Amino acid sequence: MNYKDHRSIRSFLPKEVASNLLTEILTIGTRASNTGNFQSYSVVVTQEQAMKEKLAPFHFNQPMATQAPVLLTFCVDYNRLATWCDARATECGHLNLMGFYNGTLDAMLFAQNVAVAAEENGLGYCFLGTVLYNLEGIIQTLALPRGVMPVLTMALGYPAENPPLRVRLPLEAIVHYEKYTSFPTEKVETLYRDVENDPFYREQVKKAGRENLAQLIMEQQYPSATYEKLSAELTRVLVQQGYTLD
Ligand SMILES: Cc1cc2nc3c(=O)[nH]c(=O)nc-3n(C[C@H](O)[C@H](O)[C@H](O)COP(=O)(O)O)c2cc1C
Repeated sequence: MNYKDHRSIRSFLPKEVASNLLTEILTIGTRASNTGNFQSYSVVVTQEQAMKEKLAPFHFNQPMATQAPVLLTFCVDYNRLATWCDARATECGHLNLMGFYNGTLDAMLFAQNVAVAAEENGLGYCFLGTVLYNLEGIIQTLALPRGVMPVLTMALGYPAENPPLRVRLPLEAIVHYEKYTSFPTEKVETLYRDVENDPFYREQVKKAGRENLAQLIMEQQYPSATYEKLSAELTRVLVQQGYTLD
């Protein structure tokens, strides 16, 4: 499939992903560029139904967490690297904010390469950001040791749906040539017009009884109180996993 046609898939056929295909797309994933080429990431593959059911509550029981044949949990990983460094008489000094930031970049580039390879091979996927809402449960269930932080899960399998493409901002909202230019309010309103008028989002705003999409996102779906609570929890769990943040 052409990546221009990408849409997230949330309903899957009851068809296994062959292990050689899974290996192939994960291998393509590892061709992603990464910091210093020390690949500070790992992925945990979940295929057993019992394990999916254990993980599901930490994904707020989104149906795809149990319905998808494969869950991939992408992690920042300094456990393997630290063990290697110990064995080579040096210290892995990356269990800090910079290391986590770089590891997250690397893990996400790996994940996106896997995503593109999956679609090219007829598979569909949806990312589950719920990992960051329930770090502790994911860490315990997947037995993630010191230095390993889950960042994102992907539900993967053969699509049982073909939803319409979701609207995007026009390219001029995203791309700045040579220097960044802030847009005046009227221009920003124009840039968001197609998104605000999209029937999918109009329906969501109506259902939620909100005045507009920005209010729906910031006051209901992704409110600051939640972000503040999750930021504190992220800090706590990073320290628990061995990261030094000050
Ligand atoms: C980091 C991240 C987390 C996401 N988490 C969820 C999720 O928990 N549940 C879900 O249904 N979709 C999730 N999505 C999918 C987005 O909702 C989806 O990519 C977006 O609405 C655009 O739709 P499209 O991918 O079909 O173009 C996530 C996507 C990303 C990149």
